[in-house]
Amino acid sequence: MRLHEKVKIKTPHEIELIKASGDILCACHDLVAQHIRPGISTLELDKLAEEFIRSKGAIPSCLGYGGFPATCCISINEEVVHGIPSAKRIVKEGDIVSVDCCVTYKGWVSDSARTHIVGEVPEQVRKLIDVTKECLYLGIAQAKPGNFIRDIGLAVQHHAEKNGFGVVRAMVGHGIGRNMHEPPQVPNYDTGFKGPQLKAGMVLAIEPMINLGTYKIAPLDDGWTYVTTDGKPSAHFEHTVAVTDGEAKVLTDGAT
Ligand code: MF3
Ligand code: CO
Repeated sequence: MRLHEKVKIKTPHEIELIKASGDILCACHDLVAQHIRPGISTLELDKLAEEFIRSKGAIPSCLGYGGFPATCCISINEEVVHGIPSAKRIVKEGDIVSVDCCVTYKGWVSDSARTHIVGEVPEQVRKLIDVTKECLYLGIAQAKPGNFIRDIGLAVQHHAEKNGFGVVRAMVGHGIGRNMHEPPQVPNYDTGFKGPQLKAGMVLAIEPMINLGTYKIAPLDDGWTYVTTDGKPSAHFEHTVAVTDGEAKVLTDGAT
């Protein structure tokens, strides 16, 4: 990401195109969600997503991005992000499964992630997932003109830590548009810097990654997957949102 570059302002028409991309992505997530159950492999889930995206005339943007080999990042339990789908990785009862996916449609990228519960999980894991989703929406609520990027991270961190959870620092949200990753970075914690001031027409991917235990993460030998260093589970929710004159508009929730 070119950090020195200014944050691009999108026109209302461009935001509509990102919304069209986001509608395909939302339907893709719904489809994958319907198929997550014990016994399915993460590669089968990925193939469903790829086929669906292509059937809509869109492109799976993660596939080949920086060499990533799949349509979705699918990360289970202590895996935080960028899990590689595999025929050998079978979903089982009691897992939490994070699916992170990007779609390019008519040249415009959308990005979102959801964490799913498979069957019964301990109460604290359910709470982790609820709180992570709440963190996303509290972050989105800060995405309004006059606020700064810092306000998003402050809101996310406050809510997560109030509940005793760790906020991943090594990975951040980002601007998005013609490219998956554009300026600015959108941290989920307080870096101490205000960052750019938000203006109508900015489009951001806000994506809290919240851990049951320590915020610390480390890469696996596969070169992609990040896991929590204490082996405790992690949750991830993400939406692509447009800053408007009023409340932020979520572009990846399928709203009409
Ligand atoms: N939503 C992820 C991100 O913002 C998408 C990663 S795609 C990958 O980093 F190809 F790099 F895995
Ligand atoms: Co993202």
